[in-house]
Amino acid sequence: MSDFSAGSIGQQLSTIRRHLHEHPELSHEEFETTASIVAWLTEAGIRIVDYGLKTGVIAEVGGLHGGPVIAVRADIDALPIQEETGLSFASKVPGKMHACGHDFHTAAILGTAFLLKEREQELQGTVRFLFQPAEEKAKGAIQLIKSGALNGVQAVFGMHNKPDLPIGTIGIKSGPIMAAADGFIVEVEGRGSHAAVPEAGLDPIVTAAHIITALQSIVSRNVSALDSAVISVTRLHAGTAWNIIPEKAVFDGTLRTFDEEVRLKVRTRLEQVVNGVASAFNTKAQVSWIEGPPAVVNSGRWAEQAALTAEALGYEVVEPSPSPAGEDFAFYLKETEGVFVFLGTAGPQEWHHPAFDLDEGALPVAASFFTALAIDALSKLSEESLRGGRQHSEII
Ligand code: NI
Repeated sequence: MSDFSAGSIGQQLSTIRRHLHEHPELSHEEFETTASIVAWLTEAGIRIVDYGLKTGVIAEVGGLHGGPVIAVRADIDALPIQEETGLSFASKVPGKMHACGHDFHTAAILGTAFLLKEREQELQGTVRFLFQPAEEKAKGAIQLIKSGALNGVQAVFGMHNKPDLPIGTIGIKSGPIMAAADGFIVEVEGRGSHAAVPEAGLDPIVTAAHIITALQSIVSRNVSALDSAVISVTRLHAGTAWNIIPEKAVFDGTLRTFDEEVRLKVRTRLEQVVNGVASAFNTKAQVSWIEGPPAVVNSGRWAEQAALTAEALGYEVVEPSPSPAGEDFAFYLKETEGVFVFLGTAGPQEWHHPAFDLDEGALPVAASFFTALAIDALSKLSEESLRGGRQHSEII
């Protein structure tokens, strides 16, 4: 590594992160955030590339001598949560908060862009920065892919802050690191009656209760001990009064899986259980799915490269447990190879908590890590293209 010192931009990145933290914007509404990112990039002389996005920014550094294209992604949206941190730079917008640390991601990846801009001459290709909107709704990654922002990209890199890992520690693993996150809504249709005369109706509440109980057997009886899945029913609604059996009961929940085969199997079983139990009670039921992102599945070779890069910088690399949360970075990894890492931020609370915070000491760690990873990745891809493509053994 040559002369750059990521630590020297820690203060600048902290100022950026705090500005973003004070002005959170929800998914698809990141207009001021977008304008601020454009202003910071422009001030650093970094080129913005127009992909026709309403919110979100695509920028590029390098490519002066041709070469491969890689992408580094930061998500920029906040959550509908009332902040309770008491920080001096707490959210100025009631009911909205950067409670998932996307302000941190944005600042750290801006820092990466600044550091790479200083070394633009030596880059063996192009680094495309994806400042992605609407991650919390799992919509932004698809939007960016549709806009063409991933065209030509040979490897994509991203991160999530991780409150339970210390500063200077990076969680890297090959294979699944975050879950496929699907939602479901079940409507049970019976026949209403007087509560005192249940035989005149078809009780959707009793049916729903049996279905919900039976759903819990799917994970324990249909999923192998070596795989994993979660089914949680999170909302249940039926009825209007204590003396009326209603016509309908509706409940919904979520399904989390790490493997596509398990995901499909559980979804099929869920529909079978719903329809089977409903039919046993002479009611009708219907399942609607809320399609979430698939699991985030890292490529082995980029996970290996990320670990080598992190270790060369003196950071500690750990193999993290996969998170059952969902992350729309998964859609990029369906398009191209890459790696998504967990960056230690030593926070007091988990994601989406009203007192969520992080240690800003992680900002220069993240910026220097992604800077070095981009440089290493471009040089790896350039070497491979000089050798005439990847080795046969790597391809299969
Ligand atoms: Ni997040």
